[in-house]
Amino acid sequence: MYSKEVLEHFKNPRNQGQIDNPDVIGQVGNPVCGDVMKIYLKINQNSKDINKSKIEDIKFETLGCAAAIACSSVVTENTKGKTLEAALKINKDLILKKLGGLPLPKVHCSMLALEGLEKAIKEYLAKH
Ligand code: FES
Repeated sequence: MYSKEVLEHFKNPRNQGQIDNPDVIGQVGNPVCGDVMKIYLKINQNSKDINKSKIEDIKFETLGCAAAIACSSVVTENTKGKTLEAALKINKDLILKKLGGLPLPKVHCSMLALEGLEKAIKEYLAKH
């Protein structure tokens, strides 16, 4: 069964939806279940050091299970306002800790939001 933290994030997801005119969108699919997720980023660029640019806004759209939605919510909550280099350090262990764990067959779901975030940041860095 899901923890109370997972259920809370699933029922009240933070930062769900789209950003108008995002600087980058990271889209990923989960090969295990076929679920899809998009991460939208609005970035405040640091002209001296691109890695220190800040995530001004982040939103997600997930066609996925309750665990994927809860993980996306936690990932966005923990990256908004952070620098790109700090956001890239967020890992599965932190997400699982914040969610009070996930049932073993659902651990792969936590990777979807992280992969979407990583893809979006890497695409942004490659373009600037
Ligand atoms: Fe697909 Fe969870 S079952 S992301």
